Amino acid sequence: MKKKTRILLFLFLAMLLFISCRKKEELREKKKIKIGISLYDSYDTFISDYMKAFDGEVAEKRSKGYEVSVSRYNAARSQALQNEQVEEMLQNSCDVLCVNLVDRTAPSEIIDMAKKKNIPVIFFNRELVEEDLSQWNRLYYVGADAKQSGVLQGELIAKDVLEDGEGENGAVTLSPEVDKNQDGKIQYIIFEGEPGHQDAIMRTEYATGTLMKESIPLERLGYGIANWNRAEAQSKMMQLYSEFQDRIELIISNNDDMALGVIDAYDKIAVSKDNRPLIYGIDGTKVGLRAVEQGNLRATVYNDGRGQAKALFQLAFQLASGEETKGEEGGIRKIIRLPYSKVTKENCAEFLEEEERDSKQ
Ligand code: GAL
Ligand code: CA
Repeated sequence: MKKKTRILLFLFLAMLLFISCRKKEELREKKKIKIGISLYDSYDTFISDYMKAFDGEVAEKRSKGYEVSVSRYNAARSQALQNEQVEEMLQNSCDVLCVNLVDRTAPSEIIDMAKKKNIPVIFFNRELVEEDLSQWNRLYYVGADAKQSGVLQGELIAKDVLEDGEGENGAVTLSPEVDKNQDGKIQYIIFEGEPGHQDAIMRTEYATGTLMKESIPLERLGYGIANWNRAEAQSKMMQLYSEFQDRIELIISNNDDMALGVIDAYDKIAVSKDNRPLIYGIDGTKVGLRAVEQGNLRATVYNDGRGQAKALFQLAFQLASGEETKGEEGGIRKIIRLPYSKVTKENCAEFLEEEERDSKQ
């Protein structure tokens, strides 16, 4: 055989081998995949944006010829109902479960059921305690770093409250636009999410903690627990307003929806925009970003729901295809956390553009 013919023959065989390996790979990956999801409350704004992004990931995979089916349930804030849904998803032979826990302290029943059927579970957004996550090696968590969201919110507020950094003798000078009564203290109200939720606890602690670290004197006038909910926040704000009126200089909210409820209350009471306290949120939901753009919400902290949805889908797909994830050290990576970022009027257009681009796809 001539040298040229031998080379050609070799190339041909190598190509055949490559194609057959690819086919096997595709076959393995292309098996039908069934994902089961249970949401703590499908009417929660952040969660519903999150699911839209998740659907986008599913659609993209399907467009590449993969058969992905998703059954989604709304637990409507009932842990008992969520447990029943998990049972049903397991009976319907889902390959993987994605659970947005109602009660983050009560995952045991779900874990036991999944373990019996050897189906992996990815918890997301509502973080369970470390010990529960280590109950079994096929449990995962996708979320964000709650502490970071509080710190970033505190930094955004500090920047607006402080007048050119430090004053004389290291004492701080407060902006007269915020410290309206000029008493050297910031009178504030805080709106908190569900009691016991990791994000509510950490955000409250680290937002106020960051302000204290900056030596900003604070006086808490009152607080409202509004369960992440816009309407609840609005009605609590109406009550708080009747009590404190224009003494309120700052409103810190654990999420955007409650901050929007506060804005709704001010609209209803008809306080002009210039006479309202500064209001801060967290999430950067579509409605939240628009409120920042319009100057109704002073700033927010972007909770990367789209990034989390992507990570959740990729992990679910991988687990459903029978692969456990490998972290940097080659071990299984059980926890994925996405970073938060600051959003102000200056940069909110970037975030809005990304949202618009994604929703068009
Ligand atoms: C938080 C989010 C809230 C709410 C909550 C539900 O991360 O900031 O708006 O969606 O999750 O668990
Ligand atoms: Ca004051």
